[in-house]
Amino acid sequence: MAPTEHLIDTLADQGWAVSDGIIDTSLRHGLYTECTQAWASDAFRQAGIGRLATHTLDTQIRGDAICWIEPGPADQPSSQFLQWAAELKQDLNRLLYAGLHSAEFHFARYPAGQGYKKHRDQHQGQRHRKLSLVLYLNPQWTAADQGELCLYDPQDENREVARILPQPGRLVLFRSDLFPHEVLPCTRTRWSLTGWLRTDRA
Ligand code: OGA
Ligand code: MN
Repeated sequence: MAPTEHLIDTLADQGWAVSDGIIDTSLRHGLYTECTQAWASDAFRQAGIGRLATHTLDTQIRGDAICWIEPGPADQPSSQFLQWAAELKQDLNRLLYAGLHSAEFHFARYPAGQGYKKHRDQHQGQRHRKLSLVLYLNPQWTAADQGELCLYDPQDENREVARILPQPGRLVLFRSDLFPHEVLPCTRTRWSLTGWLRTDRA
């Protein structure tokens, strides 16, 4: 089975899926370079929790800074990623009738010592987020670096169902409406590309 079909099949079975080889290494390197350059040019902002009126900054809960990805020149790595994600969205609609119409992505940077406490990605005002996607961009990552993504049982949020090390090029997809999840504190800077496939139109 092709990697994308395998990913979608697993997602359909268990509500989450991990793939290690689905993004070309050269594209992943390009994305890493692009996001570290965006950081160097001050394009990141401290991430908050909640939306609009309830938006607050609390690094005890969420310690990352983010940089939203906008469409850009076709040869830019993030544009190539957006193109890949658009094709994934079509495959999800074709194979699962997922009803996805738009997508949003940002780069994320967690400094050493930071994580993101247990949460769901679909809160008030974000009901249109259907699938969460995370792609890990660090060129190297070992167990000692920590920063794992933990997924919890939708029926029992104290039961861990997966603990995923943010290894280079690893991609995680999960149902935004179902899975409580958490980013454990990392011991060195952790870079990723994170986003959502949505049921509304952009
Ligand atoms: C998020 C999130 C997971 C990760 O940004 O909402 O849960 O592994 N990220 O970075
Ligand atoms: Mn999340």
